[in-house]
Amino acid sequence: MRRPVIVGNWKMHKTSTEAEELAKALVNHLTDLTDDREVVLCPPFTGLKVVFEVIKSSPIKLGAQNLHWEKSGAFTGEISALMLKDVGCSYVIIGHSERRTYFCETNSTVNKKIFAALDQGLIPIVCVGETLEEREKNQTFEIIERQIREGLVGLTHSQALRLIIAYEPVWAIGTGKTATPEQANEVHTFIRYLLAKNFNETVASEIRIQYGGSVRPDNIKSLMSQKDIDGVLVGGASLDADSFTKIVKFKE
Ligand code: PGA
Repeated sequence: MRRPVIVGNWKMHKTSTEAEELAKALVNHLTDLTDDREVVLCPPFTGLKVVFEVIKSSPIKLGAQNLHWEKSGAFTGEISALMLKDVGCSYVIIGHSERRTYFCETNSTVNKKIFAALDQGLIPIVCVGETLEEREKNQTFEIIERQIREGLVGLTHSQALRLIIAYEPVWAIGTGKTATPEQANEVHTFIRYLLAKNFNETVASEIRIQYGGSVRPDNIKSLMSQKDIDGVLVGGASLDADSFTKIVKFKE
């Protein structure tokens, strides 16, 4: 059984005071959180420590939105896995499409970041997904195949087992346009096929694959009813305590 994992990606939103308030509201709303699901909050770097202080005695976990692959050094503006671990993170999002689009991240930098995260015991949430243009040209599978093959190159089977993959079609992110549950599941099933091919059947059946892109309280149930969807990566709807709580508390 793959335990569903629900992650809130706050992106570049919330000052540390606002982050603290949202985390407190979520801890209150989620006192009855059952251990059949995992919940992770990913505030901006400046909110990590304050959010950790609020959630540390609750079942909610902390994640970051990015990291650098080196441990330390002259890399102005960057943050290492060791620093994330130090402020209480146990997860880190890697290769989000906004990072690939606006900050020139490639499958190769994604790969280096995965190794850096694993090295510190962080769980990488590796994002993949096609653009609208690629989908319209029928290149979805080709793009995903390349992102998985190049992004995950060199990982051992046991390292691969520690990953979470997030399928986020770029055309569905922040647009209000969700992939249909069937469209999403089709790609998730394909990702499992690729994991079996690049690693083995155990890796393919055990890795959790999340869907991301305009997830809301009104579509969570239908997405989670799909057999290869094991959770969601939520942007906009994770910025409000009530809507994120409704998503977390979805019933199958
Ligand atoms: P969205 O963002 O839910 O606002 O579409 C998802 C994401 O980018 O992770």
